[in-house]
Amino acid sequence: VSLKHYNTFGVEATAKKLVHINHEEDLLALYNDGAFETEKLLFLGGGSNMLFVDDYDGLVVHMNIKGLHAFPINEGIEICIGGGERWHDVVMYCVNNGFGGIENLSLIPGTAGAAPVQNIGAYGVELQDVFYSCRAFDIRNGSFRTFNSADCKFSYRDSVFKNEYKNRFLITQLNLLLSSQSKLNTTYGAINEELSKRGITQPTIKDVSAVVAAIRVSKLPDPSTIGNSGSFFKNPIISVDTLDRLVSDFVDIVYYPFDIGRVKIAAGWLIDQCGWKGKIVGNTGTWKNQALVLVNQGNATGLEIYEFSEQIIESVKNRFGITLEREVNVI
Ligand code: EPU
Repeated sequence: VSLKHYNTFGVEATAKKLVHINHEEDLLALYNDGAFETEKLLFLGGGSNMLFVDDYDGLVVHMNIKGLHAFPINEGIEICIGGGERWHDVVMYCVNNGFGGIENLSLIPGTAGAAPVQNIGAYGVELQDVFYSCRAFDIRNGSFRTFNSADCKFSYRDSVFKNEYKNRFLITQLNLLLSSQSKLNTTYGAINEELSKRGITQPTIKDVSAVVAAIRVSKLPDPSTIGNSGSFFKNPIISVDTLDRLVSDFVDIVYYPFDIGRVKIAAGWLIDQCGWKGKIVGNTGTWKNQALVLVNQGNATGLEIYEFSEQIIESVKNRFGITLEREVNVI
């Protein structure tokens, strides 16, 4: 089975088997058939964070459970979302209903079920800020378990589902806690700039969503026309001491506070400084407006993109002594 339409890079790769999960019962049926014991497994949502460098000799489990409901609860509004819903559809539903909290996460590709796995984030907001709980299927014993926020061990682009529970729990439902009175987060410079450009002084949830979408469209390529997976690397976290040493050589280095003693460096800036921005190499390259985004110019293989990313890692390492880590999953 071809996976070309199941990865936003649009690279060709095949899977031995592909199953679509439309209901939780489908997972139980697979479990009862022993599918999870015999096959090598890959869980797939929107494929927006995957780079296939080879064919997949196993079972690809595509999460496709739908459903989107809002319930008023004491603290606000609980939104219950099927794991296979498109994330941006969820954002639009909430924005249109005046439920605040995820407007900054507008236009992020991928599915709701995948959102907690890497704790998606953009423009000053992370999924963990609005996360209430999620329901996930344990392929080891065929049961469902509810995870609260602490159980998920969220951190920057990371959670328990990428670590100790990798390939074990498949998220079938995501529950968020939003509020119609939520405070808007416009701390991210580009948002403020765009709001004032539009003459908006009292922004609404809708305004913030529209502004974020406009910024993303101007910076990031649309995967339906140019294959990509958003940021290819994570922004590296380094110690303040290392930063101090770097600043003496590179006065313009872009960084953000992270925690006590550590900062987050803009990987896009590092890559840009090495001269890669907008560079086309064979069938791949980086995006002209954002060096952190690797693109498929049309006929790239996953391996070609992977090898290109190795070149980038090497040159950033040579110049800055920082080793970039991939945000995408290499399969
Ligand atoms: N920069 C450059 N050259 C470039 C790219 C960026 O100099 O080619 C500089 C910019 O000038 C800016 C800084 O680097 O000062 C940061 O750039 P940007 O605001 O575009 O954000 P980012 O740190 O590169 C992160 C997330 C994005 C998210 C944006 C906005 C990661 C790995 N990426 O990118 O998330 O949309 O912030 O919050 O954390 C994703 O994960 O797929 C993703 C797109």
